[in-house]
Amino acid sequence: MTAMKAIVIYHTKHGSTKLYAEWIKQAAGNIDIARLEQADSLINNYDVIVIASRTYMGRIAASSFLRKKWDILKNKKLYLVVVGMAPQEDEASQKSFNMIPEEIRDHLGGYLKAPGKIGFEGLKFYEKLILKKFKTKEEDKTDKKYIEPVVKWLQDNLAK
Ligand SMILES: Cc1cc2nc3c(=O)[nH]c(=O)nc-3n(C[C@H](O)[C@H](O)[C@H](O)COP(=O)(O)O)c2cc1C
Repeated sequence: MTAMKAIVIYHTKHGSTKLYAEWIKQAAGNIDIARLEQADSLINNYDVIVIASRTYMGRIAASSFLRKKWDILKNKKLYLVVVGMAPQEDEASQKSFNMIPEEIRDHLGGYLKAPGKIGFEGLKFYEKLILKKFKTKEEDKTDKKYIEPVVKWLQDNLAK
């Protein structure tokens, strides 16, 4: 039997989702990582795929990729890591998750939401306005401890 191949595909704008992807690679060992923008032709080569995505204005940014590539992804072992400031148990986070079609949600081997970071530098004017409206402060809540469940899932699947 040939060994299973795994990859983390990450969708980032400000870098925190990339950081989580790198932490997952460091912890899980023999896996690849790639930006979502480069992933279209790559996903065919892998059996086990982690999609790591930032959240933007109520949407899990990679949800359109999941839909677009569902014909391929439905034959893979799949885990979704979402990065954003709203905690996983918040209604807003649940709403974002539920915007992903049920068929895709049901197929996931796991899902977790990890906290991200907010820096005002590089944001568009209207983005700063939105953050001001919600009294959002500059903050970095990224923490390696959140990757534990996905690392375990990867190790279990790669051991099969
Ligand atoms: C304009 C704006 C809108 C955001 N909307 C959400 C949101 O709806 N839910 C959430 O959990 N986080 C939201 N965030 C927080 C980002 O998801 C967080 O900063 C994340 O770390 C960004 O990922 P990245 O660093 O990989 O680009 C928002 C941030 C900005 C700047």
